[in-house]
Amino acid sequence: MQAKWTENDLFLFQHLIQEDADLENALEQSHKNQFPEHEVSKTQGMLLSILIRMSKSKRVLELGTLAGYSTIWMAKAIPDDGVVVSLESELDKYELASKNILCTGLQDRVDLICGPAAQSLQKLIDAEVEPFDFIFIDADKPNNPLYLRLCLQLSHSGTVIFGDNVIREGELCNAENKDPKVMGVRQYIQDLGSCEHLDSTAIQTVGIKGYDGFTLTFVK
Ligand code: DHB
Ligand code: MG
Repeated sequence: MQAKWTENDLFLFQHLIQEDADLENALEQSHKNQFPEHEVSKTQGMLLSILIRMSKSKRVLELGTLAGYSTIWMAKAIPDDGVVVSLESELDKYELASKNILCTGLQDRVDLICGPAAQSLQKLIDAEVEPFDFIFIDADKPNNPLYLRLCLQLSHSGTVIFGDNVIREGELCNAENKDPKVMGVRQYIQDLGSCEHLDSTAIQTVGIKGYDGFTLTFVK
């Protein structure tokens, strides 16, 4: 089915998503540097952009910058006085993302932080930064439960939390699968469900990135 999913995604990209030189450059640089092709697809990037504009989010927090592809999508979706704070643990990714964002001219709206996400989150909590309106959790999946706990301390009533890659080719519900990434997203979903002050849903997706899905959470 993958060929059909890809073909249909390419049709959607062609008809729905305008070419954007900044986004194309980030993708190209990422591939040139042989980074894993874990960035969101074009239609997923547009979904993030629409969710951010619908929720009138100004302060966006991203876990997992990679080459900055989704960072750029989100920076373009916020107003001039907004900010995307994006956390990246690996120096080579951080450096390339910095360059890619400089190329867009959006650097005043983006704050890249290099270091393990849990440490960076704790620093933001300790610094009592203003809470975020929209949070995109897209870093190392085994730590998703920890990231959720920390992100909730950086949220307010009305914050929207998007969790990427939670279905993992349908392995989510396979209790025998002990892959740390699968275990991380499984626990994450169980934690979401057990938090009374959260409304959460999840949507399974197919496309150019295979069979996966995302969670969407509203902090009540
Ligand atoms: C993986 C991570 C991602 O962020 C993604 O979009 C796809 C896959 C992974 O670690 O397997
Ligand atoms: Mg992802």
